[in-house]
Amino acid sequence: MINDKKVLFSGMQATGNLTLGNYLGALQNWVKLADEYECFYSVVDMHSITVRQDPATLRKRARSLLILYIAAGLDPEKACIYFQSHVSAHAELAWILDCYTYMGEMNRMTQFKDKSAKHADNINVGLFAYPVLMAADILLYQTDLVPVGIDQMQHLEITRDIANRFNNIYGQTFTIPEAYIGKVGAKIMSLQDPTKKMSKSDENPNASIYLMDDPDTIRRKFKRAVTDSEGCIAYRDEQAGLKNLIDIYAACTGKTPDTIVSEFSGLGYGQLKEAVGEAVVDKLSPLQQRCAELEKDKSYIDGIIKNNAEKASYYAAKTLRKVQRKVGFPDRIR
Ligand code: TYM
Repeated sequence: MINDKKVLFSGMQATGNLTLGNYLGALQNWVKLADEYECFYSVVDMHSITVRQDPATLRKRARSLLILYIAAGLDPEKACIYFQSHVSAHAELAWILDCYTYMGEMNRMTQFKDKSAKHADNINVGLFAYPVLMAADILLYQTDLVPVGIDQMQHLEITRDIANRFNNIYGQTFTIPEAYIGKVGAKIMSLQDPTKKMSKSDENPNASIYLMDDPDTIRRKFKRAVTDSEGCIAYRDEQAGLKNLIDIYAACTGKTPDTIVSEFSGLGYGQLKEAVGEAVVDKLSPLQQRCAELEKDKSYIDGIIKNNAEKASYYAAKTLRKVQRKVGFPDRIR
């Protein structure tokens, strides 16, 4: 607990172009939960270098992502929005937790398997140990709740396992975090292959809606979205493309899938696609506008970056000191 509130932590990588999946699966829920919790939202730039990055691009994207958090409606005076690399305790705790995590556990991680297949020329130790850094991110703040999309569930489970293991050896040290998965939007699928997750690394640009896509591009991508030949509007697994469109519409408008099905019953797929496109444009246009405005306000953003790095460091250090003492590192002399 911090200030009598439970603690929420989440983060996003500043790699590639963020997609509608990132927004509906994570960011939108962060905003909904922000008042109820003491929140830490990190731009996890240390995770990004598990895959080769161009330094200038990473720096720019990391800053734009931090701005996006604010543009999405998070108040950086209340929520602690910061760069992971500015708080060295993340790396320090990750090292300690590495020593309490088994190779076999990491070998089972599906994201590691996927990413090492994709980057066969650079299967580095960081990529392998990535979930331990993620566990450190979460456990450093004594986090109660972690809002994420479904694809991060396996990492959340290993975080809980590591925390429980440590607590069992050394006594109560870490809060055991729970995942928060939104009712709709927790797994937005590709518009071109609805059996696959919408992903920023998809090679086909028509498969994903990028948060910075202009309105015409968004409308065009939805028009081309893959559906089926059944010809009737229903919300079911067998019509995966349609189900995804309904999920997106539901996550953008707050309507339930059932309401949407009755709203469009008897109408064609084209009309649904058009409505979804408009709903997404209505969501993303104001967001893009706020990002552009905030990008111009250098001193305001710099102030947020500095203050929140200090705030995050303060809370992170408390947990790190406790852990260091538990494992037997000598006390500091003051
Ligand atoms: P990342 O950067 O891949 O994704 C950020 C968030 O977006 C969600 N997401 C989706 N949700 C629904 N549908 C989709 N198609 C979709 N694609 C992505 C993800 O589930 C995630 O919530 N390892 C994490 C970052 C991280 C983190 C953490 C998250 C590092 N440390 C601590 C939470 C807590 C990642 O790579 O997310």
